[in-house]
Amino acid sequence: MATALDVRGLKKTYTTGGTSLEAIEQLDFSIGQGELVCIVGPSGAGKTTLLRCISGLLDATDGVVELDGAAVTEPPAGMAVVFQEYGRSLFPWLTVRQNVELPLKEKKVPRARRTELVDEALAAVGLADSASSHPWQLSGGMQQRVAIARAIAYEPSVLLMDEPFAAVDAQTRADLEDLVRELWKRLGVTVLFVTHDIDEAVYLGQRVLVLSNRPTVILEDVAIDLPDERDQLTTRSAPRFAELRAHVYELIQKAKKGERPA
Ligand SMILES: Nc1ncnc2c1ncn2[C@@H]1O[C@H](COP(=O)(O)OP(=O)(O)O)[C@@H](O)[C@H]1O
Ligand SMILES: [Mg+2]
Repeated sequence: MATALDVRGLKKTYTTGGTSLEAIEQLDFSIGQGELVCIVGPSGAGKTTLLRCISGLLDATDGVVELDGAAVTEPPAGMAVVFQEYGRSLFPWLTVRQNVELPLKEKKVPRARRTELVDEALAAVGLADSASSHPWQLSGGMQQRVAIARAIAYEPSVLLMDEPFAAVDAQTRADLEDLVRELWKRLGVTVLFVTHDIDEAVYLGQRVLVLSNRPTVILEDVAIDLPDERDQLTTRSAPRFAELRAHVYELIQKAKKGERPA
């Protein structure tokens, strides 16, 4: 499998005024093209910091991030990010359609193709009927689906998601999880999905990277050897799912107690 994303020797220390805070001690990992990898770690571990470094929005203190062999120094063209605070990432004065279309205009996609991509993406997230609504007229879960539609309409080669479902209700969350799996399979996109929810990480991922607490390092890279066909009922009640879940849970408990890798 060709490498899509390569993170090597990544370190990040924030310095504000006279104080400095070490968020990332050292991270080394790579993600193959078309892989779906989840990252879990305690709150404040440095997950968002990592995603911001990978997406070129934040300068690392040391180390490199490469996308398809090229160093990331600014937000790369082939990358889309769904942020934790999706509400704030949508423009309230634009309609749903306009919000989803905006990055395509910036990418200079011709009008007819833009319409096609926006229609497809809105249909994929079940929002075809809300195209002319404004974000503030929609529920939190619907707003999050707009953010996802915007990311997929862009046809990224890599999709980064930062706790995208933290603010939606459990039922919507399950639907959105299945949507991510379905889109991933259909589009062959490389996905890096950050969550603090252990079940969600195991349900979604082919691998789960468990992070230590701050300053973060990888505690373990857990292979999720569940069948590729997953559904909320069967997968979550499988004995292997329970084992993997327990394993990741233990790792998170260790992480919270400050345990570092041997
Ligand atoms: N802009 C910033 N300036 C200083 N410290 C920050 C900044 N952003 C995050 N931090 C700190 O870095 C650590 C990691 O934060 P973050 O990456 O948001 O963790 P997570 O997403 O895992 O909860 C936290 O201690 C947080 O307070
Ligand atoms: Mg975060």
